[in-house]
Amino acid sequence: MRRKVVAGNWKMHKNYSEAVSLVSDLKNELINENLKCDVIVCPPFTFLEAAHTVVKSSEIQLGAQNMHFEEKGAFTGEVSAEMLKSVGCEYVILGHSERRKIFEESDETINKKVRAALAAGLRPIFCIGETLEEREGGKMFDVLGTQLKEGLKEVDAEGMGKIIVAYEPVWAIGTGKTATPDQAEEAHQFVRKTLGEIFDDGVAEKTVIQYGGSVKPNNAAELLAKENIDGALVGGACLEAESFLEIVRAAP
Ligand code: 13P
Repeated sequence: MRRKVVAGNWKMHKNYSEAVSLVSDLKNELINENLKCDVIVCPPFTFLEAAHTVVKSSEIQLGAQNMHFEEKGAFTGEVSAEMLKSVGCEYVILGHSERRKIFEESDETINKKVRAALAAGLRPIFCIGETLEEREGGKMFDVLGTQLKEGLKEVDAEGMGKIIVAYEPVWAIGTGKTATPDQAEEAHQFVRKTLGEIFDDGVAEKTVIQYGGSVKPNNAAELLAKENIDGALVGGACLEAESFLEIVRAAP
């Protein structure tokens, strides 16, 4: 049985005191709760250390939203996997569609990041997803297959055991248009089948595949009830403790 994993991707939101107050609220709310899922928060870089101080004595885990693939060097403005580890991160979101589109990250770049994260002992939350145009043009499975194969190149079964895959259809991100549970389940089944081809069925069965794209308190339960939907990567609704907690508590 795969345990569900709900992660909050804060994107570029909050200031320092708002960030500390959000993680503190989450911690205080969840402290005596028998959690049915794993919970990860991914604040911006500048708040990671403060967030770690708050969540380290709780079950909430910490993730970053991006990193550079080099270990160190003259890369002004960049942050390495080791730096993230050193402030208490266990996870890092890689390949988010906003990184792919706005920052022109290629499958090759994302693959370098995935491998660098694993080498440093960070667990990637590896995002894939098709645009509306690709879906309507019948290219969804090709796009997802390529993103998986290219992004996971030279990753072995042990490395894959550390990776969470997040299926985030681009047309559902920040739009309020959620994939229906059946649409999401169809994509997740395809992801799992493809992981079986790249690795083997054992690896595919164990992999946590999250859904992301307008997950809200009112749709989380039916998405999370699907057999192949092992969690959620939440954007907008993770910015308030109440709505994020409702999603966390919707895990079956
Ligand atoms: P929204 O939940 O705001 O659609 O964002 C999803 C997302 O991109 C999470 O990484």
